[in-house]
Amino acid sequence: MEVNKVYLGDCIKVMKEIPPESIDLVFADPPFNIGIKYDKYNDTLSYDEYYKWSKNWIIETYRLLKKEGSIYIAIGDEFAAEINIILKHTGFYFRNWIIWYYTFGQNQRKKFNRAHTHIFYFTKDKEKFKFNSEAIRIPSARQLIYNDRRANPQGKIPDDVWEFSRICGTFKERLADHPCQMPESLLERIIGASSNVNDIVLDPFGGTGTTVAVAKKLKRNYITMDISENYYDVIVKRLNGQIEEIKRNPDTNHQKQRQLFNYDQ
Ligand SMILES: C[S@@+](CC[C@H](N)C(=O)[O-])C[C@H]1O[C@@H](n2cnc3c(N)ncnc32)[C@H](O)[C@@H]1O
Repeated sequence: MEVNKVYLGDCIKVMKEIPPESIDLVFADPPFNIGIKYDKYNDTLSYDEYYKWSKNWIIETYRLLKKEGSIYIAIGDEFAAEINIILKHTGFYFRNWIIWYYTFGQNQRKKFNRAHTHIFYFTKDKEKFKFNSEAIRIPSARQLIYNDRRANPQGKIPDDVWEFSRICGTFKERLADHPCQMPESLLERIIGASSNVNDIVLDPFGGTGTTVAVAKKLKRNYITMDISENYYDVIVKRLNGQIEEIKRNPDTNHQKQRQLFNYDQ
């Protein structure tokens, strides 16, 4: 199996080519089926189509994960319940239902602003899995506010509500004309907690390549893919450190990015 590789293609087809029980960690940020305008993918499947498709790709990740492997899936409100059930039916064990509260919400006109995403954390085995708590500890209130002598000097394991800003169009971290670039800090927590150096991290929905860029930075091996040639190109360039070249792409103008974000007002 070739690692440190980016594929252009459908994730189910690509995953079928990978040997079973070869992956340590899966992070997946699939299209949420809420009408986001992607370059190639149509994000408006019927309920049944989306459910069936989600089941199919999640079954593939189960086949690929090693016995002690972990999976994290990001999903919106609309299909969180369904993805949770599919994960359980597939055979995964529930560990956390994380809420990523992104402090820079998306404005809506006729409902409350969208400011969170669900992240499911499941493992393949009920008891045996990696969880590197020391890699992800953060300063605790005992340390920061109460100056409490009982505070663990190493800090605490983060709560299950995570606060990271979304990557908006004008942010320095923002790379390309893609509606859903995730912050690297979020992936650093997931990859740091649930994998070790030299492990293999797989992301079936590469997008701008956040997962694999962080995996590379943290000295993990990686495999990713995207169905869009443009996004595939962005991922390859990002991994090669050609950030300025991605940003020079004339498509990354703010007007277009605003249109991409106004999907459910
Ligand atoms: C929510 S985005 C992922 C964003 C990514 N987490 C990031 O930080 O940039 C989902 C991606 O899945 C891709 N995609 C949709 N259907 C796919 C499929 N069947 N196989 C592979 N990629 C697909 C889309 O092109 C899109 O880039």
